Amino acid sequence: MNAPRPFCFRLAPATLAPVAIAVPRLGDAQAEALAVLVPLLGCGEEAAALAFDGLADAADDDLAAPALALIADEERVHEQLLSALAAALPPTDRQPQLMRAARRFHIDLGRGSGAEHLARIAGIDAAVCTILSRMLRPDAAIGADPVTRALFGRIHRDEARHVRVSRTLARSLGSARANADVAAGAREALAGVLGLAGAAFDTLGVDPDALLRDIGRLPDGLFAA
Ligand SMILES: [Fe+2]
Ligand SMILES: [Fe+2]
Repeated sequence: MNAPRPFCFRLAPATLAPVAIAVPRLGDAQAEALAVLVPLLGCGEEAAALAFDGLADAADDDLAAPALALIADEERVHEQLLSALAAALPPTDRQPQLMRAARRFHIDLGRGSGAEHLARIAGIDAAVCTILSRMLRPDAAIGADPVTRALFGRIHRDEARHVRVSRTLARSLGSARANADVAAGAREALAGVLGLAGAAFDTLGVDPDALLRDIGRLPDGLFAA
């Protein structure tokens, strides 16, 4: 079987066992909307796997390196889950403008120092938790579908832990002010990318205006001591 096509960034060939997921029980419009969002999220997982591999290699702290390598492994699992989900959803035309913006966004996250990269990741993973928790609300389409609820629930739990690790490391490397500045910039940029997919969020029962407003600002105290 050919390796699945990457969403954005090619990872080393997976050593993970292939996963298959059941067909989600979603309406046609909702399945199509999710098929737009999954590549966007998958692009983030590929970027995150590469980022955490790089951060783990560069870490000179004996405790940080294994924690970062473990996160990279979890991001690969997320990528694999989303690839399996994409295969279970209706085929969709890839949205070139959306995917170009997502790719550019993730490349920009890695600019500057490792400390800045970690601060941006903490801000972005916290934003991903917000996105997923809205998608998982019981009155939203994903929250009402057992297949996708389990998949995104797992990613949500892992991402909440990634935020704790990356913000702790960012705090040890940079000032609260510097971390907040770079993370706020990344969140604003993320809101710009997500704005291109507002209709898909709307179809899945997530209010895009409220989502973009909340993603575009950094939660108070993310990097406070
Ligand atoms: Fe992830
Ligand atoms: Fe993550």
